Amino acid sequence: MTMSTARKETETPVTAPDAFLTAAFHAPCRSLALPCDMNTLSAELSAADAPAFVWTKVAGPDDPAFTPLTEMGFRVAVEEITYERPADAPAPAATADPGFTVRKITQDAAAREAAIAEELGDLACDNLTTSRFHQDPLVPDAVACEIKKRWAMNFFTGKRGQEMYVACAADGNAVGFNQVLVTPEYKVIDLICTAANYRRRGVARAVVEAMFEPGLKTRVGSQANNAAADAFYKSLGFDPVGTSLCLHWHAGDGA
Ligand SMILES: CC(C)(COP(=O)(O)OP(=O)(O)OC[C@H]1O[C@@H](n2cnc3c(N)ncnc32)[C@H](O)[C@@H]1OP(=O)(O)O)[C@@H](O)C(=O)NCCC(=O)NCCS
Repeated sequence: MTMSTARKETETPVTAPDAFLTAAFHAPCRSLALPCDMNTLSAELSAADAPAFVWTKVAGPDDPAFTPLTEMGFRVAVEEITYERPADAPAPAATADPGFTVRKITQDAAAREAAIAEELGDLACDNLTTSRFHQDPLVPDAVACEIKKRWAMNFFTGKRGQEMYVACAADGNAVGFNQVLVTPEYKVIDLICTAANYRRRGVARAVVEAMFEPGLKTRVGSQANNAAADAFYKSLGFDPVGTSLCLHWHAGDGA
């Protein structure tokens, strides 16, 4: 596809700054909302002040934007699956003495819980290794880890999420957490993991069951390559309701 790369001053940009990723990459990152004018995008990607990294999502390979984007150098980072648990799903039975405790931290109290922020950040860094950033060979592991760490820690500075459910072992160490977004229609599992040495002991189940609220659906996005998460969500009554492709563009990697 031939595209004009001349950028007119009057054109509205089709990509938007992504401050969160820019801080983690230490380089300018932008997100792309679709549909968009492909000529404007092409001009933005080849401009002198072009970003280092751009990301977007399409429904799948049949999405009309998919081919022009791949011709411009966008690559599939990961296939994402959205799961949903109905609002009227039955309440789970309580587990007797699981060997850890779960507590809820609300956004109002988050600033007073700063001591645990670093611990959860480290858990996120060490365990959330199926993310789209980890799957992208052009994103260094240290950056992928930094993204997940900042994501979890942003809860404690009021930048991300409304609720945090933390599982702590008897020695007080955090062994898992569930960071949650709350919308009028849904509660969303935004970030969830269990420490590797505490898996299959019901930690993730407990921090998810603790978030359920009668009358509200629960949602989560996962990756098609994450078989453990797929089995986990289905075991809790979640069903897959949609898929999308997450696309990444890196400066210098264009087609
Ligand atoms: C997915 C994850 C959160 C599950 O945590 P966990 O604390 O081990 O899960 P639980 O012990 O609560 O498991 C509850 C049920 O889910 C299912 N399940 C969990 N992990 C599973 C696995 N690896 N394989 C198959 N089923 C699994 C089982 O039915 C399990 O019940 P059972 O152990 O009695 O059979 C954990 O593997 C993890 O942290 N992975 C890395 C981070 C990640 O992928 N997060 C999700 C991103 S979307």
